Amino acid sequence: MLLENLHLGAMWALVAGLTGGLATGLSAQEQANPFTAAIDVQAGRRMFTRQCSVCHGVRATGGDIGPDLTTGEFEHASTDAALFSVISDGIPDTPMAGLNRNRTDQAVWQIVAYLRSLSGGGERVAVTGDASAGERLYLGAGNCSSCHRIDSEGGRHGPDLSTIGDRRSPEQLLSDLVDPDERVQTAWWRMRVTHLDGTRVEGLRMNEGTYSVRILDADDNLWSFMKRDLRDSERIETSSMPAYGATLTDGQLEDLVAYLYGLSRRDR
Ligand code: HEC
Ligand code: HEC
Repeated sequence: MLLENLHLGAMWALVAGLTGGLATGLSAQEQANPFTAAIDVQAGRRMFTRQCSVCHGVRATGGDIGPDLTTGEFEHASTDAALFSVISDGIPDTPMAGLNRNRTDQAVWQIVAYLRSLSGGGERVAVTGDASAGERLYLGAGNCSSCHRIDSEGGRHGPDLSTIGDRRSPEQLLSDLVDPDERVQTAWWRMRVTHLDGTRVEGLRMNEGTYSVRILDADDNLWSFMKRDLRDSERIETSSMPAYGATLTDGQLEDLVAYLYGLSRRDR
């Protein structure tokens, strides 16, 4: 058993350097799409029609083979950077092959921009809450930044919320707050393990290989275990996020939704 009590920045570099898969996706989480102008969305749509619509349908709403890509949520990607790798590299052992090798990064980002434009990013609706009160709550009593990042400030125990307003509607945001367990993507599943020496650790499953597993506990310690040294391990598929329906008033929830909905790449 190894406890790596490193400074977070160094830790991420280490994890990203050592392993692929999940850790790479997370470490690239900060990378924002550099190609989001209207002209990029158009270019993305043209490429999509030519190369993707056979399976996903001309309007990306799903076909016989490929799933609907307009819901604003992706099973295999929660960030733009992760979406980039799905489009570029495909999904192993599925018909989703990814673009061919001649593709440029710009082309992939433009398709990402197009897919993002299909959900949430469409029409803006009016919200009733007070966004600045929501921001104070987010940073203060709500303690949301202990788990979430906005513009690279905050914790790593939940999704980056820097542009959450582009991905989620106000109704979806409210349901994120009151019913976090309703849909938890695999990237946010946690693990609870007991080492042969009795040590118990619970936290985010950073990456899991055949022989080893890494876990980030609530105090930001990164643990590394050989599986043969574990007495037992259990996967937790519920969210680590508390449900706020009972602890926050309706007004506070509306303020938070107003603040989150305003977090958009359009404003930067
Ligand atoms: C040959 C059929 C096929 C083609 C062509 C194809 N896809 Fe897919 N795609 C799939 C299938 C099937 C899945 C679902 C894989 C799974 O999860 O089992 C998928 C999954 C995806 C996902 C992940 C969806 C999620 O919920 O995480 C994205 C994003 C995606 N495709 C984008 C694209 C783009 C962009 C293109 C064109 C560059 C493309 N696909 C071309 C079949 C295809
Ligand atoms: C203990 C850690 C933790 C705290 C504290 C926390 N969250 Fe979360 N949050 C998560 C995790 C993990 C997820 C992803 C799993 C899920 O959907 O519940 C999440 C999901 C979300 C989502 C959906 C994100 C997406 O990409 O769809 C929103 C919005 C959100 N949280 C807002 C908040 C707000 C606002 C607060 C403070 C009032 C907060 N969270 C407090 C861990 C946390």
